[in-house]
Amino acid sequence: MIDPYPSAHPVLLAPMAGYTDVVFRALCTSFGCDLAYTEMISAKGLTFGNRKTAAYLEVGEDETGIAVQLFGHEPDRMAEAARITADHLGPRLRCIDINMGCPAQKIVANGDGSALMRTPALAGTITETVKKVSPVPVTVKFRKGWEDDTCVAFAKTLESAGADALCLHPRTRMQQYRGTADRSAIGEVKAAVRIPVIGNGDITDGESAVSMIRETGCDGVMVGRAALGKPWIFREIKAAIAGTPYTEPSLSERLEVAVLHAERIEQAKGPHGLVELRKHLPRYLYGIRGSAALRTRLNDAKNASEIREFLLDSLKNITI
Ligand SMILES: Cc1cc2nc3c(=O)[nH]c(=O)nc-3n(C[C@H](O)[C@H](O)[C@H](O)COP(=O)(O)O)c2cc1C
Repeated sequence: MIDPYPSAHPVLLAPMAGYTDVVFRALCTSFGCDLAYTEMISAKGLTFGNRKTAAYLEVGEDETGIAVQLFGHEPDRMAEAARITADHLGPRLRCIDINMGCPAQKIVANGDGSALMRTPALAGTITETVKKVSPVPVTVKFRKGWEDDTCVAFAKTLESAGADALCLHPRTRMQQYRGTADRSAIGEVKAAVRIPVIGNGDITDGESAVSMIRETGCDGVMVGRAALGKPWIFREIKAAIAGTPYTEPSLSERLEVAVLHAERIEQAKGPHGLVELRKHLPRYLYGIRGSAALRTRLNDAKNASEIREFLLDSLKNITI
């Protein structure tokens, strides 16, 4: 068994389409995230040589290791995409993750993402075929089921097919993001397989991460939405798991991280990066009183130094 994760209880940044780019991954890593995932990348796009798709494989200079998530439903094409990924990233590729959880209609309509939970034999063949060519561990991220709870049988199929680790977001495809993540399903999967199991879903702070590990016995946790606008959550969770003290960053420290995000995205992507930043910036301001006007002002900022000026200037008028 190969363990793809670098620490005993790894804390991972979830793949999030449109968010987990090179800049955000590096920020999370700087706060202690053990392994950050790319967003899901189309195997079809990679094998067709689509330039836009290939750009998702870009890594930052300071990124020593990332997990790349691929989606698709054709075993040979998925294997070819894994090979392209491995050739491109070399030693910076820590693992290939296969998306078997995405609930979006345009994805499942092609038989990709969580649709694979309805075709477990194909899911197993994909895992086996990717595993044969991959020089790094192969992991799978999936859901509780399509409509019913089928995750234990599905996990066993993936394990038999050679998956090195699994990550479960315990909502069904039909639930999308409604309701709460059913932690008992994570515990059941953990008890049913011998490979590492990562728990995902609704982790919002150190306490919820620790209780997820305690209640389910999972080997590590993966954080998605709660990291947006709060990349320091990894420091909080790592401290909670280690049982060491943690101090929440001050308002000015939080805004400094937002500024750093702006500066790095501008450097990496130019003016287009600032357009992408618009969905991140308001998240840094959640819970800050009097930030509505600031949000509008930030949208009009022409470059990162204006963002710095607006944010640091605003410190005089806003409070948590
Ligand atoms: C905006 C957004 C994009 C996402 N994109 C992906 C993706 O590309 N691949 C994937 O496996 N899951 C994706 N997810 C699901 C997350 O990885 C995660 O499983 C889910 O958000 C539950 O974890 P959380 O409660 O910590 O957010 C996405 C979620 C969000 C909110």
